[in-house]
Amino acid sequence: MEKLWGGRFQKDLTKAVELYTESISTDQKMVLEDIWGSEAHAIMLAAQKIIAEEDLRHILKWLEKAKQDFLNGTFQLQLELEDVHMNVETYLHRGAGPEFGGKLHTARSRNDQVITDTKLHVRFEILRTQRLISDLQYTLLRLAEEHAETLAPGFTHVQHAQPITLGFWATAYASMLTRDHERFNGAYDRTNTSPLGACALAGSSFPIDRRLTARLLGFASVHENALDVVSSRDFASESLACLAILMSNLSKLAEEMVYWSSHEFRTIELDDSYTLGSSIMPQKKNPCVAELLRSRTGRAYGALMQMLTIMKGIPSGYNRDLQEDRVPLWESFGTAQSSLAIFSGMVGSLKVKTDRMNELAGAEFATATELANYLAHERGIAFRQSHKIVGGLVGLLVEQEKTFSDYETVRAYLSEQGICIPVEEIRLLVDARHVVEAYKSLGSTSPKEVKRMVEALRRRTDEHVWEIEQKEKAIESAQVLTEKIVSGILAGRHLAELL
Ligand code: ARG
Repeated sequence: MEKLWGGRFQKDLTKAVELYTESISTDQKMVLEDIWGSEAHAIMLAAQKIIAEEDLRHILKWLEKAKQDFLNGTFQLQLELEDVHMNVETYLHRGAGPEFGGKLHTARSRNDQVITDTKLHVRFEILRTQRLISDLQYTLLRLAEEHAETLAPGFTHVQHAQPITLGFWATAYASMLTRDHERFNGAYDRTNTSPLGACALAGSSFPIDRRLTARLLGFASVHENALDVVSSRDFASESLACLAILMSNLSKLAEEMVYWSSHEFRTIELDDSYTLGSSIMPQKKNPCVAELLRSRTGRAYGALMQMLTIMKGIPSGYNRDLQEDRVPLWESFGTAQSSLAIFSGMVGSLKVKTDRMNELAGAEFATATELANYLAHERGIAFRQSHKIVGGLVGLLVEQEKTFSDYETVRAYLSEQGICIPVEEIRLLVDARHVVEAYKSLGSTSPKEVKRMVEALRRRTDEHVWEIEQKEKAIESAQVLTEKIVSGILAGRHLAELL
C-alpha cells in the first residue's frame, strides 16, 4: 500500500517490517486525541491564514466523520498504515481528497503530533488514577473512623512493638496515599504543556500560533523549545515513577492483608468475594487478590525501568525508540488503576476481628516502652536507666514464662530496684488501652488524635477531588471550545466570529 510519505521509495515494506514497526496496537487508545489535535491544528492554520477557510471546512468535516466512524466501529485502523496519525490522515485524504486532506499536515510533524496525543491521553490517565486513589482514601478513612478506638498490635520488624489503634493504622495508609496523589500533581503539571507546533524538531517557517493550539487543547502553557519537545519523554518517566511508588505503597497494604488474614494472626477476615479457593484443599480461602497486587508491583517497577532504559543515552531529536513509551505507560496505568479499584472494594468489605486485635495489642510486652516512660517522667529516673530496668524485668518474666499480667512479680522486681508501685497502678501501666489513650502527641495513636487526623485527611481528600474536577472542567471546556468552532465552521460560519 502506498504510504503518505512514500514519495522517495520504490519498494514496499515487507510484512515483517510493517509488523515490527507499527504502533497501532498501543496507539489505538489515542485516536480521539489525534482527531482533536488535528482539529486544533487545522483551526490554527486557518486562523493564521496558512490554509483557506474552505480547506478548513473540508478538513473538519472529514475529521468529524472520522470521529463518528471510529466511535461506531466503521473506521477501522489499518496496520499497514503504521500508526494512528497516518490512519487518521489517510481517512481524511480518502474522504476530502488530497487537495484538501493534504493540507492538514502543513507545519506539523508526527514528532510533535505523537507527543501531543500521548500527553492528552496521559493527562486523562493521571486524573483517572487520582480519582481512584481518593476512593481508596475515603474507604480507609471510613475504616479509621469506625475503628478509632479499636486496639491493634503495632509492629516493628514484624515483632510486637507498641499497642496502637486500628484507626491509626488505617490513617497511616490514607496519609501515604495523600503523597501519592500529590506526586501525580507534579507529573500532571509537566504533562500539561503543549508540544504542538514544535514540528519535526526545529519549529516552523510558517507563521503558526502555538498559543492558540495550546488553548484549544486545554494545555496550561506551551512547551517552547522545539528540540526539547520532540526529544522529551521525562513526563512519561515521571508518571511511571509515580505509579511505581504508588504500587510500592499498595504492596505494603497487600502484604498486611495477606498475613493479617492468616490463621496465625487472624486479626481480619477478607470477604469471600475477594478470596479464592483451592482445587484440592476444600478448607482453603486464599488472599489471591492481595497476593496478585503484591506481585503486580513488579510490573510497575518493570515499566519504569523500561522507560528509563528507552531514554538512556538517546540523542536529541526524535528517534524511533520513543515510540516504545506507550507500552510501559498504558501497562502501568492499567495495573495501578485496577489495583486501586479492587483494593477499595477489598478494604471496604474486610471484617475486623476486634477481640483478636485486642488480645494481640498488648501481647509480647508491647507496653514495656510506656512502663519505662512512666519511670522516667513520674519517678525521675533517666530514660536510659529506666529502659535498662524494664529490660531486666522483661528478661526475668521471659525466663519464668510469665507476662506483665503477673503483677505481683512485676511489683516485687521493681521494689528490689527501689521503685515502689502498688499493684493496682501496675495493672494500669501495662494495660494497652491505658497506654494508647496516653499517646496524645501530634500524629500519635490515641483515639482523639486519630479522629482529628481522619478529619484533616478527609478535608485534604475533598480538596484533591475538587482539584481533579477543576482539571477535568478545564479539559472539557477546551473540548467544548474546539467543538463549538468545528460545528460553527461546518454550519457555514466564519472563523473570525468563532474564535
Ligand atoms: N508512530 C511514531 C511514534 O509513535 C510516530 C512518529 C513518527 N515519526 C517519525 N519521524 N517517523 O513515535
